[in-house]
Amino acid sequence: MDGIKEITDMSLEELHVVARDWSKCYSDKRANSDGFILFFCGGIDREWLFVILNFSSKEMSIQKSFDPVKIIAGRLFGGQDPELVRNICRWVRQAVQIPFFAKLTPNVTNIVNIARASQEGGADGVTATNTVSGLMGLKADGTPWPAVGLRKKTTYGGVSGNAIRPIALRAVSEIARALPGFPILATGGIDSAESGLQFLHSGATVLQVCSAIHNQDYTVIEDYCTGLKAFLYLESLEELQDWEGQSPPSIQHQKGKPVPKIAELIGKKLPSFGPYLEQRKKIITESKLKLKEQSSLLSQLERNCFVPKKPIPAVKDVIGKALQYIGTYGELSNTEQVVAVIDEEMCINCGKCYMTCNDSGYQAIQFDPETHLPTVTDSCTGCTLCLSICPIIDCIRMVSRTTPYEAKRGLPLAVIPVC
Ligand SMILES: Cc1cc2nc3c(=O)[nH]c(=O)nc-3n(C[C@H](O)[C@H](O)[C@H](O)COP(=O)(O)O)c2cc1C
Ligand code: SF4
Ligand code: SF4
Repeated sequence: MDGIKEITDMSLEELHVVARDWSKCYSDKRANSDGFILFFCGGIDREWLFVILNFSSKEMSIQKSFDPVKIIAGRLFGGQDPELVRNICRWVRQAVQIPFFAKLTPNVTNIVNIARASQEGGADGVTATNTVSGLMGLKADGTPWPAVGLRKKTTYGGVSGNAIRPIALRAVSEIARALPGFPILATGGIDSAESGLQFLHSGATVLQVCSAIHNQDYTVIEDYCTGLKAFLYLESLEELQDWEGQSPPSIQHQKGKPVPKIAELIGKKLPSFGPYLEQRKKIITESKLKLKEQSSLLSQLERNCFVPKKPIPAVKDVIGKALQYIGTYGELSNTEQVVAVIDEEMCINCGKCYMTCNDSGYQAIQFDPETHLPTVTDSCTGCTLCLSICPIIDCIRMVSRTTPYEAKRGLPLAVIPVC
C-alpha cells in the first residue's frame, strides 16, 4: 500500500468536536476497555499541543508521529533529527500527564538514535515504525501510479503493509536491544497473528495494525487475538514442539498427498514427470493397497488429545523472546557449516535449484538430463539459495556438513590462463 496525503483537512475547531465525541464514545465503553491511544501528527510549532490538551483524559495515551519529509504549510517535520525529536517530546511531556509515544520514521540511518532521543525527551515509549518512503510504480509508458491531475505528477509516498515488515522487525528488535524495557508499539506489516507474534518476539509490547484493516475490516483484530491465543496455547503442548506455529511438520508428499520412498520400494529413484510419473503412480497405488490390507488387521487408531503439561504462556512471557538470537554479523558461527539435501520424493524436477546454483551459486547441483533428478555435490557451501527458490516447501533442507569444506576456486592461483 502507498499513502500520499496531508495530515488532516480538519480545522482546530473541528478537531475539538472530534475530541468531545471520542471522549463521550470512550466513556460509554470504558467498562470493557483498558484505554485507547490517540494518534497524533503535527508540525513543530505548538499549535497542536492545544489539540492534545483538549483530547487528554487520564484513560488515554497519545502517539505523536514524526514524519521526516513532509512540508506542511511551510513547516518541515523533523523526525530524522534526534535533537528536534528530543525537544518536541519535551514539549509534549510538559503539556500532558498521560502516557505518550513518539512514532518513528524508518527513513533514517539509525533509528535507535531517534528512539533514544524520544526517551530522553520524556516519551513513555515509541511506535516503530511509520511507513517507508517509496515510489510505488511506473506504468509501461513511464507515467506513475498513483498520478495526480492532468500533468500526472506523483511524489514519494509512504509504503506500508507486509512489504515493509522486515524493515519494521529490524527497527523494533534494534530498539529493544538498545533500550531494554522501553515500551515499543510495533507497526509495519502486521497482517496475521503469526506476524504479530514476530513483533512481540522482537521486543514489542503493543501491536498496531493499519494496512490489513484497509484490506479487510476491523474484524481482523478479533482473528489475530484468537490466533495469538492459539499460538500461546500450542507452546504448552510438549507433543507439538516440532510444529512450526500452527503448522505440523511437512510430510513427504507430492501435490499434498503422502508418498512412500520409491527407492526403498523398487531400489532406484524415480522422478515425477512424463512416463516416470505414470510408473510412480502405479507403484504408490500398489504400496497403498498393501498398507491398507495390513492396517485393516490392526485396531483403529485413536485420535490424540494432548493436555498442556506446561503452563500456557501469557503475552508478557513471550515479549523479546527472539532477541537472544539477534546480534551482529561477527557473532554468527562460521564453523557450523550446513549443506543442502533434496528430498527426491517431494521434488517435482523443475530444475530451478540447478539453475540458481549454477548461475548465482556454487555450481554444486548436478541435474540428470534424462530423469531431471537433482543431486547436491560436495561443492555445496550451504548458501541456501536453492532452498529459497524451490517451489516445494521443505523439499530442500539444510543439514550439518559432515565432511570438511574445501573451497573450489577454479584454476590454481599460480596458473595464468591464456586468453
Ligand atoms: C493510508 C494510510 C494512512 C496513514 N495515516 C497515518 C497517520 O495519519 N498517522 C500515522 O501516524 N500513521 C499513519 N499511517 C501509518 C500507519 O499507521 C502504519 O504505521 C503503517 O502503515 C505501517 O503499518 P501497516 O503495515 O499495518 O499499514 C498511515 C498509513 C496508511 C497506509
Ligand atoms: S527446485 Fe525443488 S522441486 Fe525443483 S528440481 Fe530443485 S529440488 Fe526439485
Ligand atoms: S545451498 Fe547454495 S551451494 Fe548448496 S546446493 Fe544450494 S545453491 Fe548450491
